[in-house]
Amino acid sequence: MPRIFIDGQPFDARTEQTVLQVADEHGIFIPRLCWHPQLSVAGNCRICVVQVEGRSWVEISCNMPVSEGLKVLTDSELVRAHRKATMQFLTLNHPVDCGICDKAGECTLQDYHVAFNGEPSISAEPKVASTKFYALSERITLDNERCILCTRCVRFTREVSKSHALGVQERGDHSVIRPAGGSAKKLDDDPYSDNIVDLCPVGALLSRSFLHRDRVWYLKATPSVCPGCERGCAIDIWHRKPEWLLRSPTPGAQRENRAIARVTPLGAQHGDRPGDVPSPHSAEAYATASPPLPWICNKGRDLAGLLERPRSTAAMKKGREVPLAEAVAAARELIGRARRPVALISSWASNEELLTFQRTLAPRFTCFVKSDHPPAADETVQDDLLIRADKNPNAHRAREFFGHAALTFPPDTDLVLVWGEGFDFATAPRGVPVIFLNAYFAPENGHADVFFAISVMTERAGHYTNFEGTVRAFLPCFAKPAGVADAEQVFEALAALAAAGARSDEAAMVTP
Ligand code: FES
Repeated sequence: MPRIFIDGQPFDARTEQTVLQVADEHGIFIPRLCWHPQLSVAGNCRICVVQVEGRSWVEISCNMPVSEGLKVLTDSELVRAHRKATMQFLTLNHPVDCGICDKAGECTLQDYHVAFNGEPSISAEPKVASTKFYALSERITLDNERCILCTRCVRFTREVSKSHALGVQERGDHSVIRPAGGSAKKLDDDPYSDNIVDLCPVGALLSRSFLHRDRVWYLKATPSVCPGCERGCAIDIWHRKPEWLLRSPTPGAQRENRAIARVTPLGAQHGDRPGDVPSPHSAEAYATASPPLPWICNKGRDLAGLLERPRSTAAMKKGREVPLAEAVAAARELIGRARRPVALISSWASNEELLTFQRTLAPRFTCFVKSDHPPAADETVQDDLLIRADKNPNAHRAREFFGHAALTFPPDTDLVLVWGEGFDFATAPRGVPVIFLNAYFAPENGHADVFFAISVMTERAGHYTNFEGTVRAFLPCFAKPAGVADAEQVFEALAALAAAGARSDEAAMVTP
């Protein structure tokens, strides 16, 4: 273990580390633009310079190996002068259009300008103009005037997603990021392409779905879990801060207040800027999670399309809206009469909900775990990076609770409880009453004997356990709509009524 000295403080380093990594590990901030912990070292931005004591020049710390007795200074006069000059150089042709840039508020270049330069450009030459909106893909636009050619995006497609979709064309101040062409995949066909938007330290690569939609300072990141497959990646769901909710009563404004603005990997916006720490409101998520993965797939970015489908917002009896208590009473009566009830368990239910069902109603039912969401026709089914074939976030835990048996209705089934989506009602035994719990609008809701409108994961807290056994927490982003209940609430209410019924009318309660 070589001992090195950073700004006079001794640190034991590992031989494979660089000076920048040792500094990071011990909370000493060295700026970086092209370096990223998950990518190879490019060493092209030169902002990470440090001075080795006794030398009259600076060197980049992201590619400086440690050696016994090495003494570096991260904030000497020489280092400060070089950082300032580097910032002048990096912003030489930058349009300084932060007022209309989506990255404003979380732009590393903007923050470094304030921290390490703070002066207008000293160049008297006109700036080199370049393409402002270059459609790199259906999902991503590129502003070449803001690009500092750090090549994080190029390295990501080569080293992580392996699409090799991007490259650098031309030379000098005419250099631009462009599709690689040839035999390389198109960025449109890269299921991880949106990660380059997070990786971009400036406002050059922008999500077209988020473009000019919101300012980041109006948004709050709530830690959550991607429900797109059994990997259950740790994510941040971005939505309006409570203090910036729109007050207009128009449906558009109210929709905006409950909208998912964007989805990013948990903590993806942190690490490049001085004072960066994991977001404070994600403490609970970090406490229960293994270190969050730095990437997510594009399906995770598109969660709004999945979670913001039209909702069901009232309990029903045979398609007629009724108060929740009346629906509970009707369901209890069905359960009480049934001798061979079958329950189909949601693989989108949280660990807490599964536990509540197991504790309350499961002893009365024959339980099968169902797949709420099969793979969609146009999605990547499985790969060797993140994407898993099972498109349900908690299938692993649900099967631990309720077994792996394939669904077969016993011949004498006399009640079916369906929890969540994904069940083909045409396969249910004919004439058997159905209790259905679903969050979304569906024609089957009105056909059920008793229907409960339940909450979605962005309206409650809970945990998912992924296929590797990693437990991750999700927190609520929005309040539940009126008329919607948590599944746990429904099960508790059914169990309480059933218990009361059992005391007064033993004969009515049949336990399989
Ligand atoms: Fe070291 Fe860019 S971070 S050269």
